[in-house]
This record gives sequence, structure tokens and C-alpha cells, in this order.
Amino acid sequence: MDDTIDRSLNSIISRLINRKQNMTDTPTTTNPLRAGLRMQRTSEPATMVIFGATGDLTHRKLVPALYNLQRERLLPPGFNVIGFARRDWSDDFFRDSLLKAARQYSRSGIEDALWQSFAEDISYVQASFDDPAGYTALAEKLNELDQQRGASGNRLFYLATPPENYATIIQQLGAAGLAKSPSGGWVRIIIEKPFGRDLPSARALNTEVHQVFDEAQVYRIDHYLGKETVQNILVFRFANGIFEPVWNRRYVDHVQITVAETVGVEGRGGYYEHAGAMRDMVQNHLMQLLMLTAMEPPVGYRADAVRDEKVKVLRSIRAIAPEQVGEHTVRGQYGPGVVNGQSVPGYREEQGVAPDSRTESYVALRFFIDSWRWAGVPFLLRTGKRLPKRASEIAIQFRQAPLMLFDSGPMSDIEPNVLAIKVQPDEGITLRFDSKVPGQANQIRPVTMDFRYNASFGVESPEAYERLLLDAMLGDSTLFTRSDEVEASWSLITPIHQGWDAAPAPDFPNYEAGTWGPKESDKLLEHDWRAWRRL
Ligand code: BG6
Repeated sequence: MDDTIDRSLNSIISRLINRKQNMTDTPTTTNPLRAGLRMQRTSEPATMVIFGATGDLTHRKLVPALYNLQRERLLPPGFNVIGFARRDWSDDFFRDSLLKAARQYSRSGIEDALWQSFAEDISYVQASFDDPAGYTALAEKLNELDQQRGASGNRLFYLATPPENYATIIQQLGAAGLAKSPSGGWVRIIIEKPFGRDLPSARALNTEVHQVFDEAQVYRIDHYLGKETVQNILVFRFANGIFEPVWNRRYVDHVQITVAETVGVEGRGGYYEHAGAMRDMVQNHLMQLLMLTAMEPPVGYRADAVRDEKVKVLRSIRAIAPEQVGEHTVRGQYGPGVVNGQSVPGYREEQGVAPDSRTESYVALRFFIDSWRWAGVPFLLRTGKRLPKRASEIAIQFRQAPLMLFDSGPMSDIEPNVLAIKVQPDEGITLRFDSKVPGQANQIRPVTMDFRYNASFGVESPEAYERLLLDAMLGDSTLFTRSDEVEASWSLITPIHQGWDAAPAPDFPNYEAGTWGPKESDKLLEHDWRAWRRL
């Protein structure tokens, strides 16, 4: 008897100890998935060098994100920013230019005193990207900041230039000995999208990168992974017990992933002409959403465990061969029209765009994942510019109930269950199910259960770049794309481009701005008795 009591007491005590450890430990506790999510987030002192510092990305996204991190006290003391670019700007001119942009783009406005102290640690190095002298000057500046501002030899390089400069900058950094820290600190490099424009160029760029940096130093950024709602996909799936059992071919009819934008090319016609919606959105953002939706549970919430599972998804997607593009893909380009009550020009009239451009501003496609979980379940992807509404979501449409007990006549409207993960705007998750309308008749209508971030948490989500910059400083690459991942994604996209290039010139423009894309995109689904969700 005494022995039994002893054993139960011991077991209770050891459970309590385990629980306490789980609450305070670092990521290597018994449950790494949970520990990873609870990690303390304080970075070491460092200097961030932004290449292409006079450009749009630095002004609109990077510096406002850094300022917000500073405001939330998430930047360490001894954190410095060096802008590196070709224009002949002084430190003061650079800071003024950043301040103007930050006033416009920072989500929380600017407090003058805080900006002053933040801006003191910003400086500028003027040089062209292929000039070795510029890198010598940069190295001197970095050493000076290590000495004077305690940056500890930690360096974060950010390539925010047009992609054609990436290889040159990487080679120059290597030649100047900047890929290693002089004082045993860490050196990391963030590379913006697009990473390559097809499979061969992505491979070539990976080779260039790996000649100078180890893969562990490389952070390929896709800002969709920094969005709260996108990170929540894994939490929703793997922190809850009730969704995984139905997350498979037995219960799911199909999955729709939509990223709809109302904007046009926003003055970036020159870039977009050579990209198009497939390179600009599908190869990266939509594929990331697909991977997170379809992946198997990782063995832990650690960078390689998560990325291994994502890569497996890409490897199990059945490639669309060039001769199959007509069957599985649709591309479109907008003509003039009306969006949000405003007349807007067609794509071919945008600045920097050829009057006979064949670049697509809309893509719809159907992928199949050849795995035990997903065999036979279509993943339907669509994205476009100048659509009627800004709306991004992942919708899991479940199969109909196997037996219709209830009359689905004119009074009723029975619809399959849909779980919609709303990425933006109106961030949240909804579940649609059928319900009896109160009254004597057996009338049925679909209703929705709604979770909204705003209502539940009442705090504003950080910007994607805030999360990602901090992760890179902390050395956490979970939300960044690995080299094999980027290549696996291109290996699915490149054959589609080959098929499109070989096909006759498309009849562009084929959708009016302010509509939901070309008619053919509806046919892509009608063929299987399915339809795009009305958003
Ligand atoms: C960028 C694309 O990566 O993502 C843009 O280059 C696009 O064309 C943008 O508009 C969309 O991002 P978000 O965060 O507004 O959905």
C-alpha cells in the first residue's frame, strides 16, 4: 500500500517538474515544437548592411520595420545600419530620405525623439556594386562600428538590389573577406526574391552563393512567411488535435489557394514585364502557402525539420509538362476597367510595359500531390492583379456528406463544409457548415463560425519584415527558403513557362480590370464540377 502511494507521489512530482521545465527551458526540451514557439527573442549587437539602400524596398519596408523593432525594444544596443548604394548621398541625406518614407510607411507613426536615437546609428557608403574599393571602405566602416559601437563583429548583409546585381555583390563580399567575421561573430546574408528566374538560373545563383557563404549563413526571404496568418497555419494544424484527422484525401474534396490583388504593377512595369504573375507570386508566395497547407507534421519546430517536410511536398507534386499547360493552367492579362470605383488603364498601357506585351498578370493552375495523404485531391491556385477585391485565403473544401438525409430542394441550400484560412485582409479563420433554419419546415442554410484576429487578440500584428529581420538576427531560418526548396519550386514552374513560350501568342488582354480574371479560369474548374469561391 505504502509503496503504491510512494509511486503515485513520485509520478506526480516528476510530472510537475517536467511541466515546470517545459515552461522555462530552451528549445531542446521534451517537446521542441512547443519550446520553439516560446523562445525568448533578443538579438545580439550587430551591423546590418543594406545593398540597394536608396531603393523602394529599403524605404517602404526594411527601415520602417527596423524602426518598429526599435520602438518595441527588440533591437539590441549596439545595432547599426549601413546603407550601400551607387547614388552620391551623404549620411544626412540618406537619413532624411528614410525619415520621409518612414513617416509614410511605418504602421505606428514616428516619434521624433525615438527616430533621432535610431537614426544616429545609420550611415551610408557610396560605391558601385562591382567596385572593390567600395567593399574596402565598407570593411573599414564595419570595423570602426565594432570598435566604437560594440557591434561585436556580427554582420547581416541584405541584398535589396535588382537581382542582376546579386552575384556581383556576393563575389565582391567574398573577395573582400567579408563573408567571415574578423572577431568570431556571425555573418549572415538575406537575399530577396526573385531568386533566379527559372531552374538553371536559380541553380547557378545557388552555386555563386555557396562559393562564398555556407548554406547556414543564407536567408532567402519570402515575406509571406513573415505574415502572422501564414505562421498560424502550422499552429492551427499541429497545435490542435481535431483538424489533422480530417486533413487528407478521405475528407478533403479540393483545396483553393487565392491571392487576389486590386493593385496594378504600381510603377514597377519594367521589373514585372520580365517576371509576370507566375514568377512574381506563384513560384514563391503561393507555393509557400501550398507547402504549409499540405506538409506532414515536422519532427519539431526547427528550421530543417520544417523545411524538410516542405521540400517533400514540392517533390511529390506532379509536374505539369510543357505539353499539358493547356489542360492545367490559365494565364491572363488585364485590359482597362474599373477597380474600387476608379477607372484604371490596361496592363499594356502601364509605364515600362510593351504595347504588345505577352506578360501575364493573372495565373490559375491545378496541381496534384502524389502522396498517400493527397492523392487525387486537386490543389487549385489563382492569383492576379487588378481583380475586384484584395483577398488572400486558403480554402479547404471538404467532401459532401455521404448520404443526403435532408431534402436539398428549392427551400434548402446544402453546401459542403469549407474551412477558410483568411490570410489578408480581415485576418481570421472561418468554418462553413449547414444548419437548420428555425421554423416548422426542414429548411437548411449554410452558416459560418468565425475567428478574427482583431476581435480575439485586439493587438495589431507586426509587419512581415519585422518578424523576418529579427529571425535572421537571431539565426532562426525556419521562415526562410532553403537552397533545395527554391530549386524544387522552380523545377515545377519552369516546364510551365516552357509550355507557355511554345504555345501561340495568347489573346491578351483577356480580362477587364475589376473582374475575376479570364473566363477560361472558370472552365478550369467547371470541367470537374467545381467552382472558384466567391470572395
Ligand atoms: C510582392 C510582389 O512579392 O508581393 C508584388 O512582387 C505583390 O507584386 C506583393 O504586390 C504582394 O504582397 P502583399 O504582402 O501585399 O500581399
